[in-house]
Amino acid sequence: MTWDHLSFPTFNQSCTSLLCRHLSKQLFQQLKSRVTKNGFTLAQAINSGVVNQDSGVGVYAGDAESYHLFNPLFDPIIADYHGFSKTDSHRSDLDLQKLSAPNPDPDGQFILSTRIRVGRNITGLPLGPAITKIQRNLVESQVSGSLRNLTGELAGTYYPLSGMDEAVRSQLIADHFLFKAGDRFLDAAGLNRDWPEGRGIFHNRDKTFLVWVNEEDQLRIISMQQGGDIETVFSRLLKAVVEIEKTVSFMFDSRLGYLTSCPTNLGTAMRASVHIRLPLLADDMPIFKDIADSYHLQIRGIDGEHSESKSGIFDISNKRRLGITEVDCVQDMYDGVVALISREKEL
Ligand code: ADP
Ligand code: ARG
Repeated sequence: MTWDHLSFPTFNQSCTSLLCRHLSKQLFQQLKSRVTKNGFTLAQAINSGVVNQDSGVGVYAGDAESYHLFNPLFDPIIADYHGFSKTDSHRSDLDLQKLSAPNPDPDGQFILSTRIRVGRNITGLPLGPAITKIQRNLVESQVSGSLRNLTGELAGTYYPLSGMDEAVRSQLIADHFLFKAGDRFLDAAGLNRDWPEGRGIFHNRDKTFLVWVNEEDQLRIISMQQGGDIETVFSRLLKAVVEIEKTVSFMFDSRLGYLTSCPTNLGTAMRASVHIRLPLLADDMPIFKDIADSYHLQIRGIDGEHSESKSGIFDISNKRRLGITEVDCVQDMYDGVVALISREKEL
């Protein structure tokens, strides 16, 4: 689907995205001539959801200013996704002691692996949809330079995507360590421009600590390992974030928390997930979805967002990231996973 960027886009009857639910003709007229200082427009913000009518959300911000300039569109979408109203404010809490998440599956019957990531973007630069090639390359050199100073368990190497051996790249993706190429949602948001230049991955020797550079956000800081030891994964992530923040300053808004290119990631920018085998619940999707909804969980497939589940294995994570703390995000995921395992055992 293509459109002229000037007139109100057509949405299919079947479209259920937050964009098509919240963008009226009148709102389009009101916002269509607004341009941020980085040259980002409403048409760019909504292009992904117009071109990909199966989007769940469909909008991206080009910079911090986008969240203010286009707030008549962003605010209701943010409220809808996170349950975060105009008068709510965001609060951060990185205190591991407040988390109660002992391994929910010590025998390893259900949980294959645990992963917690946060998104971050550098203060003063545009977000990925509006960044220039020179700025993106600057992010890469600044971040890879900063990561070079990490020590102990976090010490590792930065591998640029440009020039990476194809077999190595495919294996990293298959093992769930690296992002895929050519995502159509990111593509339409302008996030794949100049690919693969400026992109890359840093990881420690054991691949338990990783940083994606210049994918959907400038940084995705990731802690992951086999099994269900959520507290260790969280603790490693906190350590890494604290270390990285000593040398890089990240975009933060007093109301919206950490700023990210997609409004679903605002606030904590944290997604805590497990890969979990639930074959019986998989055969009873209405019950599975009911439990997921009541614990604010999102169900994804085995190869990440927009992928399918295989062999009854799912990616289960916290859905809300804004208006709740980092500890709450992980607690949401933990409480929901405990409920899912208990139901799977009953079935
Ligand atoms: P995001 O980076 O936004 O969290 P994706 O859904 O695209 O989103 O996932 C990125 C990659 O991380 C995918 O390869 C996915 O399978 C992998 N992944 C997510 N959660 C886990 C997990 N708990 N264990 C192992 N791999 C995971
Ligand atoms: N734009 C995509 C959609 O609307 C993804 C939204 C959330 N995920 C993300 N990776 N930002 O379906």
